Amino acid sequence: MLEIKGKNIIDINVNGTIKSVVVRPADTLLYVLREQLGLTGAKNSCENGDCGGCTVLVDDMPIKSCHMLAVEAIGHNITTIEGLKNEPIQNAFVEKFAIQCGFCTPGMIMNCYALTKKYPHATDEIIEEWMESNICRCTGYQEILEAIKSVSS
Ligand code: FES
Ligand code: FES
Repeated sequence: MLEIKGKNIIDINVNGTIKSVVVRPADTLLYVLREQLGLTGAKNSCENGDCGGCTVLVDDMPIKSCHMLAVEAIGHNITTIEGLKNEPIQNAFVEKFAIQCGFCTPGMIMNCYALTKKYPHATDEIIEEWMESNICRCTGYQEILEAIKSVSS
């Protein structure tokens, strides 16, 4: 990490590619992903750790990127929604009509993807508890549950 006038040049691994970015110590990972790397899939919805719209994977664990500093990403593998390519959960969202608005859907898919990797045969209880971190303010969750279950059998 190289420091120049209060900013740091750091290398972070995003979607399998090493990216060099100039960050301030307080820059969040979400800010750097969106504003420096142009990866706008992760959404800045509440910026308060409440909604899950900014969810990315950090070494396969879903993390709210508005609550993680960019410098904390050094040495970890970051996966954003742009890094998912034709995964079963993406197709399941389409087939089960689980796609909702552009703010909540990317984070929902990232969290669902992590869930199906960790728990290939998740029970309803596990799914409901896992998905508590992602909030939709306007519609329902049933289709999302159906999408998860369709790839968890
Ligand atoms: S924007 Fe990060 S949890 Fe809402
Ligand atoms: S917040 Fe996206 S559909 Fe409700």
